[in-house]
Amino acid sequence: MTSGWLPHSLLGYVQDFALKVLAAGPIPRHVAFVMDGNRRYARKHNKQIQQGHSAGFVALRRVLEVCLKLNIRCVSAYAFSIENFKRSPDEVDALMKLAEDKLLELCQHGNLLDEYGVRLNVIGRTEMFPEPVQAAIRKAEAMTRQNKRSILNLCMPYTSRDEITTSVETCVRKAVETDCIVTEKDINDNLLTNLGGSPPLDILIRTSGVKRLSDYLLWQCCEDTQIQYTDTYWPDFGLFDFIPIILDYQRKMWAKSAPSS
Ligand code: FPP
Ligand code: MG
Repeated sequence: MTSGWLPHSLLGYVQDFALKVLAAGPIPRHVAFVMDGNRRYARKHNKQIQQGHSAGFVALRRVLEVCLKLNIRCVSAYAFSIENFKRSPDEVDALMKLAEDKLLELCQHGNLLDEYGVRLNVIGRTEMFPEPVQAAIRKAEAMTRQNKRSILNLCMPYTSRDEITTSVETCVRKAVETDCIVTEKDINDNLLTNLGGSPPLDILIRTSGVKRLSDYLLWQCCEDTQIQYTDTYWPDFGLFDFIPIILDYQRKMWAKSAPSS
């Protein structure tokens, strides 16, 4: 949702005030995004598909900053599904180039992850990416390894079933070696998100009016996750879409903790 009706000079004050009010209530520990609608955004604005994905990256940066200002400890974003390799070579190449260029930029000294002490985890089958993208990922992760305040999980190339299968494989191998049985806790602890230290998933948000999980964090959202859908295309998603979602989370948390009469 855009906020074009507000003069730009006022917008910053309104946003900071809104964030301060929100921060006084319960804050989710972990929020995940299915960043959907980049191509429809591009078509709507007569732009090329690549420009839609670039606008998606700008939105990711903007939304991440809002989350960090709210002291949300962990943000996960679905940046590339294993299924996305089936898209046209032009689109896949554009996404690879975006990842290669923007990952390092995000981690530079003085940039967002450095400023807020965010550790970057790239989660998924990174070996499927071209070597220059893998190199950028290694470098970007190394640049943020010492950061302890927050976590950004960029899931790419990722699917949840692949993550669960890999975890089960690891658990079975260990169980055979040690003659133990595999428990639910073992599978949970060996998920890539949990190996990276992510707290339980409190909110999962999907943009663009599509109501599907698309193989994203299926295990993680089985516990107490609030699933939220919004019609806004991802590149347009901003604070004014996020506020009602956080307020809804806070209302449910207060209702849970209220003494029953
Ligand atoms: C889904 O919209 C979006 C993607 C497949 C790519 C998401 C990538 C970004 C937001 C760029 C960010 C990140 C990095 C680090 C490279 P869609 O393409 O399915 O659009 P549609 O639903 O309108 O068809
Ligand atoms: Mg889509």
